[in-house]
Formats: sequence, structure tokens, C-alpha cells
Amino acid sequence: MVSWHRGRALATEASQDDDADLARFLDAVVDRYGYDLRGYAPASLRRRVQATLRNSGISSLPELERRSLADPALFARVLDSLTVRVSEMFRDPSFFQALRTRVLPLLRAQPRINIWHAGCATGEEVYSTAIVLAEEGLLDRCQIYATDLSPHAVDDARLGVYAAEGLAAFSARYRAAGGTVDLARYVTEAYGRVAFHESLRRNALFFQHDLVGDHLFEAMDLIFCRNVLIYFGRALKELVLTKLCDGIRPGGFLCLGQSEHLSGAGRARFTDFARNERIYQAVPS
Ligand SMILES: C[S@@+](CC[C@H](N)C(=O)[O-])C[C@H]1O[C@@H](n2cnc3c(N)ncnc32)[C@H](O)[C@@H]1O
Repeated sequence: MVSWHRGRALATEASQDDDADLARFLDAVVDRYGYDLRGYAPASLRRRVQATLRNSGISSLPELERRSLADPALFARVLDSLTVRVSEMFRDPSFFQALRTRVLPLLRAQPRINIWHAGCATGEEVYSTAIVLAEEGLLDRCQIYATDLSPHAVDDARLGVYAAEGLAAFSARYRAAGGTVDLARYVTEAYGRVAFHESLRRNALFFQHDLVGDHLFEAMDLIFCRNVLIYFGRALKELVLTKLCDGIRPGGFLCLGQSEHLSGAGRARFTDFARNERIYQAVPS
């Protein structure tokens, strides 16, 4: 790892200083802003810190700490850079196909369906799911919560506006996921951007929420927490997973990312519903 200390002769000395700087920075962030990133996977966090320093032109972590504690707007950008906001429409098409053909038929009889997108980033997963729900005739009876740690990400998700150049790839993944209509039905395109229609988010609430520090929701039929826990260290991952499991009603579903697995205390209460798609079902009571 390249140190964020300049001019150090000994790599080991630099690395110890780096670890101490990082620990101090993370403690200061909790004290000042309440975000607790101390349980995140260290290697990935160090990479994100280095990228943040490179992109911000700030020369050291102590300097980044000093400036971001004094400037909440700068800190909000630093937070975006430390957490990974990458998403895409119909990410993992086979997952959305399993959602459509296997999960939704089991929820169809319910008068109301509670769905939580935990770590929704900029909203692509929310709109992809809403399209599937609309096509299956279920969107009207869904209550959707879409949350993320990053307030900027939540604002973008609520807006639902994306670069039009992604539309062809989006369309290809939608079809691979079992979609059959022209996607133009769901978007308005202008000035190189596409805007999702209001009707897709009419039952969705978008708000900032921290999986580590805030209360988690209860009695959910479907929780998406995809490609979020991958950035957490083992202990934090198990803690959050257990709380997510507690938030799902018997017979409800937990959806994780392709490289994530259900482990920890909640594991015994869930079956592998669609193993390859990382969809788990809470054992009915
Ligand atoms: C890679 S994105 C995943 C987006 C989407 N779920 C998907 O799979 O396409 C990870 C998101 O997790 C969010 N995140 C990280 N830590 C979080 C926390 N403690 N609470 C809520 N969201 C968090 C980040 O802000 C980021 O938007």
C-alpha cells in the first residue's frame, strides 16, 4: 500500500502511522457527524481513503480530517467517496428474473407488500424493481422504503435521472431479466438524460438511513441489501445481517449481492430460496 504520509523512508513506519491516522480520522468522524465507519473492511477503506486524497488534491489524511471536520459540505463529499455508490439498472439480470418468476408469485396474495432497499445508492435497483412490480400488477399495493447512508445518493435516487448513454445496456439487461416491453414506456429522454416516470416511485419513500447506527425496520416482506455488506468487516457484517433478518416477517425474503452470503445468528431462520441469486427466505412460523 502506498502511504498517505509523504517522505517516509520506512514502509513499516509509514504503515503504522497510516493506521493510527485512519483510526483517529474515523473516531473524529463519529464524534463530529455520527457516521461510524470503524467496522468497515480495512483494506477497502484504505483504498477509498487514498482515492479520496487523490481526487480531492488534499495531501494527507490529517489535513483531510481537519478540513472535513470544519466543513460539513466537504465531509458530505468525502463520505460519498468513502462509501461506494456504484449501481446499475437490472444489475445481475438473473436475480431480477428470479424475483419476477419465483418471489413475487409468493407475495401476490397479500393486500400490502412492504419492501426495503437498504443501501439503494443512486436508485437504479429501486427503479428496476418498481418496473418488475408494475409489470406484475403489484406496484400499487407496495410500500417501498429506499434508504442509503449518503444523503447525496438518496437525493439522486429520489430524482431518478440518469445518463441516456446507459439506456442500451439497461435495455439489454432488462430483457435478459425477462422484460418484454419497450423501456421508453418508463422514461422521458431529453438533453442526454433519461428521467423515470413519477408513477414508478409513487409508493416509495426515499430517505437517509444508517444501517450501522439507526434502528432497522420490521415486518418487511422483502429486503434488498445488495452489494453493501461486502464493504463491512466480518463482525459488523454479522451484526447488521442479524438485524436485517430480524426485520423480515416469517415467509419474507432477504436479497443479498452476488458475492455476499447469509451468515451469523439469523442464518438458522432462513432457507436458501434461490441459492445462485442470493435470495433467502425466512422460515414460515
Ligand atoms: C455498491 S452500492 C450498492 C447499491 C445497490 N444496492 C446495488 O446493488 O446496485 C453500496 C451502497 O451502500 C451504502 N452504504 C454504505 N454503508 C452504509 C450504511 N452504514 N448504511 C446504509 N447504506 C450504506 C453506500 O452509500 C452505497 O450507496
